Amino acid sequence: MSMVDQTRQGQILVLTINNPPVNAFSPGVPEGLHAGLDVAEQDSGVKAVVIIGGGRTFIAGADIKTFDLPREQAPNLRGFVARLDAFGKPTVAAIHGTALGGGLELAMACTYRVADKGAQLGLPEVKLGVLPGAGGTQRLPRVVGAQKALEMMLSGNPIKASEALQLGLVDELAEGDLLSAAVKFASDHADARPLPRISERSAQGSPEVFAAAREGIKKTHKGQLSPSFIVDLAEMATNQSFEAGWDAEARLFVQAKDSPQSRGLRHIFFAEREAGKIPGLTKDTPTTEIKSAGVIGAGTMGGGIAMNFLNVGLPVTIVETSQEALDRGLSVIRRNYENTAKKGRMTQDDVEKRLALLTPTLEMEGLKDADIIIEAVFENMDVKKDIFGKLDQIAKPGAILASNTSTLDVNEIASVTKRPESVIGLHFFSPANVMKLLEIVRADNTSDTVLATSMALARKIKKVGVVVGVCDGFVGNRMIHHYGEEARKLVEEGARPQDVDAAMHALGLPMGPFEMSDMAGLDVGYLIRQHQAKVAGKPKPDGWLDQIVEQGRKGQKTQAGIYDYPDGRKPVPSPATDELLSRYRAEKNLSRREISPEELTKRLTYSLVNEGAQILDEGIAQRAGDIDVIYIYGYGFPAYRGGPMQYADEQGLGNVVADLEKYGQPPAPLLRKLAEEGKTFAQWDREKGRA
Ligand code: CAA
Repeated sequence: MSMVDQTRQGQILVLTINNPPVNAFSPGVPEGLHAGLDVAEQDSGVKAVVIIGGGRTFIAGADIKTFDLPREQAPNLRGFVARLDAFGKPTVAAIHGTALGGGLELAMACTYRVADKGAQLGLPEVKLGVLPGAGGTQRLPRVVGAQKALEMMLSGNPIKASEALQLGLVDELAEGDLLSAAVKFASDHADARPLPRISERSAQGSPEVFAAAREGIKKTHKGQLSPSFIVDLAEMATNQSFEAGWDAEARLFVQAKDSPQSRGLRHIFFAEREAGKIPGLTKDTPTTEIKSAGVIGAGTMGGGIAMNFLNVGLPVTIVETSQEALDRGLSVIRRNYENTAKKGRMTQDDVEKRLALLTPTLEMEGLKDADIIIEAVFENMDVKKDIFGKLDQIAKPGAILASNTSTLDVNEIASVTKRPESVIGLHFFSPANVMKLLEIVRADNTSDTVLATSMALARKIKKVGVVVGVCDGFVGNRMIHHYGEEARKLVEEGARPQDVDAAMHALGLPMGPFEMSDMAGLDVGYLIRQHQAKVAGKPKPDGWLDQIVEQGRKGQKTQAGIYDYPDGRKPVPSPATDELLSRYRAEKNLSRREISPEELTKRLTYSLVNEGAQILDEGIAQRAGDIDVIYIYGYGFPAYRGGPMQYADEQGLGNVVADLEKYGQPPAPLLRKLAEEGKTFAQWDREKGRA
């Protein structure tokens, strides 16, 4: 079947694009569309052309997979859009599903646009680190004005068909069948001359609009390239000819597309979708329907987890051991919702509706009908085993028994039940109602159904689920442990904590390792270190971080940790920490040296990469892309860097290995092997790791 079908409806030629699943502008599509226009040009019986998408959507944009092809091999969207703009007969875009990016650009180069009521229209290119590259930056401001165009192009979020109608972006909403409405519209406008062309209009926008946009992107898109290009181009639409803007757009598009930022964002686009695919699990793997949930523990994690279910209308039974803890947990959930309501993001009615779905109880028996039960009590194996033993007695057959453990062995937890196939780890990230990541820990006996249901559940509660294997800390925390260790060493060698954190800010992370530790609470790591040393019969740990905790400085919660928190939240470098460090270095005879910001960034980032490579080698993560998704959605790694593994690919794995050696971190065998073979993690994913 051709990628573009031609059919005649009277004097109207209908071109239907068939490039499932989303009718991206892939090789073959422009050829088919040009052939259609050739026919329309040559056949005097054709009065107008309708372009429509077959299947679920109009064109969802340029084919992102072709971005790295040499120019002559990539489908020429601009060429087709230019032809449409100059075409001598009316053309109508019939839009359903999502007209995104190049799809909307193509539609704007048509003479008219008719949309299905459920359609959405947008220019999401900024999310891929590029900009609308087929006239979008020049046409959208000419239709909706610069302010609205900037809002759409900088957020990347689509608008609904009804709004598009109001804005004049579509000419008509179809009543009933879209194709019939578009054909009728085309017939009614077949003789309209001169043909209205958006490129011939002028665009409205005041200097203040652009000044505000430039200020805005400093906050929303700090460090990113393409948003400032978008603002410059939108401004050109208001004060230069269409041709000048169109040419500048082409230049800046290529510059943005060829940047590491765009490569990083595109990598994450595909990695996120790939993460949903699990080797060995097909689309037909049966899933169970989750109609209700149980949560054990109403602390910070338990409460946040419960909110995820309430938010999508699933009833939750929440269990605590004392009325006081239960009341406290409930009041935190209520306060969270009420704060959201105060910000105008939900109504008080919604708050009450969500809370009405919550059943608090002190009885584990209350969980007997739940389809999934998530244990979220503190990290203690004996306590967890006790709970799972009880759950085994109480839960109905087929219920999923999940632990929110962040470190413990899910196999050991499962071993106390007679149904290890129902047991899985679901590791939420704090705050659990906000962070998008869900590490889905597949234990040895977890059934395919439980795994597939958990993946589907992640999507339902709007999380990005990534499957990981059992090991201490799973993927995210196991890597962060090494990062924390490297940060600690850097301070011993002479760096100030604020310099270490600043090195990660420079990379685009909102927090450095020490700000993160202060927020999580320094006592957590302290207790683990003390416990591990005791178990191993080693002397009591006495590092500088241990000494800080022993001064009662436990982090943000005590308003003092590595930093001081005079206003309760904002970290300020602490003279007490400086003093402690000077004393500590003197006591331990540590010499101090200047460490460059470059060394700080490399050592910290590569400590993640090195452990990531080890995790891949052990099969704990399926793909380097999965690790990147974990770091973007769970740890605030900037998406435009593509995650730590993609960042390493950009640096060249040979360089990463050389730097690790220089800084005294032994490179993981897989990393060394890939570097020797001149390969990247992305190649490893393609060759070995993918489903
Ligand atoms: N190019 C190539 N593949 C694409 C694609 C695109 N533009 N959009 C989606 N796909 C692929 C996905 O990778 C996925 O593939 P697999 O099934 O192999 O994983 C498949 O299509 C289905 O996508 P989703 O799983 O995301 O499906 P969905 O129904 O949840 O969402 C969508 C559909 C809203 C279209 C979403 O895929 C999306 O937002 N796509 C990106 C749209 C976009 O960014 N367009 C602009 C492209 S850049 C551009 O056009 C530049 C220019 O100006 C010249």
